[in-house]
Amino acid sequence: MRIKKLLGAVAVVLAVTVGATGCGSRGGAASPSSGSADAAGALVGISMPTQTSERWIADGKNVSDSVTKLGYKADLQFANDDIPTQVSQIENMLTKGAKALIIAAIDGTTLTDVLAKAKEQNVKVIAYDRLINGTPNVDYYTTFDNYTVGVQQATSLLTGLGLLDASGKKVEGKGPFNVELFAGSPDDNNANFFWTGAMDTLKPFLDAGTLKVPSGQTKFEQAAILRWQAPVAQKRMEDILTAAYSSGTKLDGVLSPYDGLSIGIISALTSTGGYAKGSLPVVTGQDAEKGSVKSIIAGEQYSTIFKDTRKLGEQAVKMVDAVLKGQEPETNDTKTYNNKVKVVPAYLLESVIITNDNYKKELIDSGYYTEADIK
Ligand code: BGC
Repeated sequence: MRIKKLLGAVAVVLAVTVGATGCGSRGGAASPSSGSADAAGALVGISMPTQTSERWIADGKNVSDSVTKLGYKADLQFANDDIPTQVSQIENMLTKGAKALIIAAIDGTTLTDVLAKAKEQNVKVIAYDRLINGTPNVDYYTTFDNYTVGVQQATSLLTGLGLLDASGKKVEGKGPFNVELFAGSPDDNNANFFWTGAMDTLKPFLDAGTLKVPSGQTKFEQAAILRWQAPVAQKRMEDILTAAYSSGTKLDGVLSPYDGLSIGIISALTSTGGYAKGSLPVVTGQDAEKGSVKSIIAGEQYSTIFKDTRKLGEQAVKMVDAVLKGQEPETNDTKTYNNKVKVVPAYLLESVIITNDNYKKELIDSGYYTEADIK
């Protein structure tokens, strides 16, 4: 009797999932049907933080396309940088019967309850780019080496100022230079890694007095920009320019951890700061967003960090495919990402510093953008 019931249930699940995915269009080869019956045509929830930044839109699309290519169903949602929206979108995914979740959290500490529900339903959870903190219910994590991203941001600041040469060697007899420091959102685990990597790199120069911070704001809490909001960064830059630079002190460089913030910072520099677009301080960034690559080509923003979201998406989908088939996904870091409950096994990817010198090779030749995208 129990076996009969079970077989009946399996038949229903198969009928529902096959019906929902339209198995005829899967083409067979990449079908997950070789895995467990649970995997075939399973629904994968993809929760992205916001559409205000190109990178997350691209991430969402890459992940959703790859999930679908493997024969799974994708439910892609963007949460408008609003925590309750993200939580309720994930709840809906669970209600719809998602078997796995790929989540880029807005605030890495706010998903504990909804992920407890996921666990009850035996749903696998992959943290995407941002670590989910304070819960045991996150299975794997894929991201870039975030500490190194911070090192690269600071390195490009130093190179732009002429304190390092192209090979990364210290150039003696330069400076002192005035810089200001920005950090990302304090509720995003990555922001701390970027900051630590950057500050470890800048510290010897700050200690030696080769770099000075005229605002005196050198603490993460002072530099952090909640939710990575460009207008907030612009306002902070304006306030700093007014308070510490109005008597003619020249600003030479700005550590910015994200292209969106760099755009706000550059606006403040040209308006309040009165800097001409052709002679701006060295401003860094992250994500190689189209607008900022254009700005780099125009000689305004100095650098950005390219994180190939195609590779990140591919890695996340590989992880999902493996867990749904009851296999162990590949990881390359089992030490770094402690979410305060456990160390989450991670797969880390590499990032690249982009300036006017190499954007063609890295962004165009690699097919990430077309020439037309960044004209
Ligand atoms: C990502 C960065 C991005 C930032 C703002 C971080 O979590 O790792 O690539 O610039 O969020 O969206």
